[in-house]
Amino acid sequence: MNNSPRRVAVLGAGTVGAAAIRLLQRHAQLEVVAALVRDPAAPRDLGERPPRLTADPDEALEGADVVVELIGGVERATALMQRAAAAGARLVSANKAALAERWDVWGPWVAAGRLGFEAAVMAGTPVVSAVAGPLRGSRPLALHALLNGTCGYLIERMEAGEPFADALAEAQRRGYAEADPGLDVDGVDAAHKLTLLARLCALPELRWEQVRPHVRGIRRLTPEWLADLARRDLRARLVASLWSDGEAWRVAVRPLALPCDHALVRVGSGRNALLFRGDAVGEVLIAGAGAGGEATASAVVADVLDAVALRPGPAVPPRALAPPARSSAIGFPELERP
Ligand SMILES: NC(=O)c1ccc[n+]([C@@H]2O[C@H](COP(=O)([O-])OP(=O)(O)OC[C@H]3O[C@@H](n4cnc5c(N)ncnc54)[C@H](OP(=O)(O)O)[C@@H]3O)[C@@H](O)[C@H]2O)c1
Repeated sequence: MNNSPRRVAVLGAGTVGAAAIRLLQRHAQLEVVAALVRDPAAPRDLGERPPRLTADPDEALEGADVVVELIGGVERATALMQRAAAAGARLVSANKAALAERWDVWGPWVAAGRLGFEAAVMAGTPVVSAVAGPLRGSRPLALHALLNGTCGYLIERMEAGEPFADALAEAQRRGYAEADPGLDVDGVDAAHKLTLLARLCALPELRWEQVRPHVRGIRRLTPEWLADLARRDLRARLVASLWSDGEAWRVAVRPLALPCDHALVRVGSGRNALLFRGDAVGEVLIAGAGAGGEATASAVVADVLDAVALRPGPAVPPRALAPPARSSAIGFPELERP
């Protein structure tokens, strides 16, 4: 390998892309040569050495050693990464939706160790590498996780007495929730991330269609109901889970009533968390920021550094793991319509 900087192309320079471009400039061995955007004339803070901005994918991808996909969405992002892969680039992405829904395309890149996607689950809080790395020394029994900060924020406001619609309007005003909040509040975003964690843990061929029917969001929660839970020392949380019923692995995203002293409640508001149970390691809790430009870009930068050092990305197990004995469901009531 020669000593000239590795050429990095970033697809997307929005919330995460712009932060990643700024952070990547800290590393002398990297040169961010181009960024793909819809509107190259729009003002953005891209640091002291901004890349060339272009709306032309050919120009953005030309000669890149590493391509970082941060445009989001499923089909367009997948098509762009197929072109990057065909050109021989190493790949990095934060796109849980595309990874969850187009595993037919993204899965082989993961199997080949060619894709870094730490940022796709819990942003800069390292759970992908933990599940695919050190935690693999144990047989997984179950995992339960808070994977969507917007839902955490909305539940917190409803616990303070605000109706769902008002809490959502406030989240949108503060930029926490999208104009179309369905991906967050209907549990789809959490389910995308759960799909990735379940593949890394136990079910490498798990299809999105097998997860989607088991997803329920928080639209039906009401302040009155949350107040009633609070009187019983319970808290509602949108929990994404992988567990065994003794015969098969199960996956679900749904609101659960958890005791106030449960680990997933004690992590505090605004944080994502993964509670992993393994037969040898016991219970492991990893908690931190689950979104935000800089927090997400932190993991993106780590993946780019791995890519240029030719370290392989996280791998799924070679085959599905047999489900453990039924012992590991979280054991708290699901919240149905009041
Ligand atoms: N935001 C977070 O906290 C967070 C956390 C974890 C993971 N992620 C993931 O990171 C990815 C990016 O999220 P984000 O919040 O940074 O999104 P964003 O702010 O909407 O930025 C998207 C960027 O992609 C560009 N873009 C979109 N469609 C394009 C197209 N068809 N052609 C060319 N450029 C296009 C946009 O260009 P313009 O600027 O010109 O419009 C923009 O720069 C998503 O996969 C998301 O799920 C985000």
